[in-house]
Amino acid sequence: MKLSGYATKINTLRTTAIVGIKDESPTVKTYTLQDDLCSKAKPGQFLMLWIPGIDEIPLSILNGGNGQVQFSVKAVGDATRHLHDMQIGDLLGVRGPFGNSFTETRGRVLLVGGGTGTAPLLFLAKRLAAKIDRLSFVVGAKTRKELVFLEELDAMCTDESAIATTEDGSYGLHCLATEPLESLLDKQKFNMIYACGPERMVRKIFDIAEKRKLPMEASLERLMRCGIGLCGSCMIGKYRVCKDGPVFKMAQLSEIKNELGISKLGFDGSRIDI
Ligand SMILES: Cc1cc2nc3c(=O)[nH]c(=O)nc-3n(C[C@H](O)[C@H](O)[C@H](O)COP(=O)(O)OP(=O)(O)OC[C@H]3O[C@@H](n4cnc5c(N)ncnc54)[C@H](O)[C@@H]3O)c2cc1C
Ligand code: FES
Repeated sequence: MKLSGYATKINTLRTTAIVGIKDESPTVKTYTLQDDLCSKAKPGQFLMLWIPGIDEIPLSILNGGNGQVQFSVKAVGDATRHLHDMQIGDLLGVRGPFGNSFTETRGRVLLVGGGTGTAPLLFLAKRLAAKIDRLSFVVGAKTRKELVFLEELDAMCTDESAIATTEDGSYGLHCLATEPLESLLDKQKFNMIYACGPERMVRKIFDIAEKRKLPMEASLERLMRCGIGLCGSCMIGKYRVCKDGPVFKMAQLSEIKNELGISKLGFDGSRIDI
């Protein structure tokens, strides 16, 4: 496969220093890097972050502008824990921005985020704020300490505050993020649902949207290595999440129903349950 000029440019690894670190919660930190290309990313796009000597991992872009890019990272394994130990001034490698972006609609929109999946939705909400009639947000996490961006999400909502849910009941409603959706959708008409988070959550939202014939876009996560459509590790159905996604529309989600929230490829290429 021959890459175009722009594709070659974004795929070239750039070395850059961490210029900002913010603690969002005990397990999530937001990093700021200087990177001109990623600073121009659109909501939904992701970057590949090289943590020297450890690994390269995909991360959604939280914000971009003025030559800087931000992303939020939950410490879950080797690479992310190593990143959490790094300091301002430490060097990282970055490629991207990769993938497509959310469609910026008008009217009334409902955003549903789970854990750090809320990051690209917050980026989107900021872009939509000036254009839309109504913005509602449901955000869920396992516990209070994993619920991030609450103040910013509240500020984005047009009528009432964001609806927060936790699985252990330590904050907000004691349930999954999908639980308040049916009654919210009974009360109000929405033109679009945007979702990002654990795939079983996305699947549940897809089932609700399909039943109610509502348009939806979801950003999906799969194991990624190359980030540019070459290695096949991020396949879902006929799609490569890194290149055809990560944002998928209703019709595409319908095509991958047999895998969505059910199974995925593991590190060794074998199929594993989600
Ligand atoms: C498009 C996309 C956007 C993402 N955005 C964010 C984000 O904004 N913030 C955030 O905290 N995390 C995000 N992730 C998940 C993040 O990439 C993984 O948490 C990270 O790769 C884990 O690396 P690790 O070495 O710390 O953990 P590991 O020990 O390698 O694995 C821990 C868990 O992370 C998963 N994982 C490991 N490597 C990858 C990989 N290359 N691609 C996808 N999943 C992987 C594993 O299945 C496992 O469940 C995103 C993933 C994708 C695909
Ligand atoms: S990560 Fe290699 S094809 Fe998507």
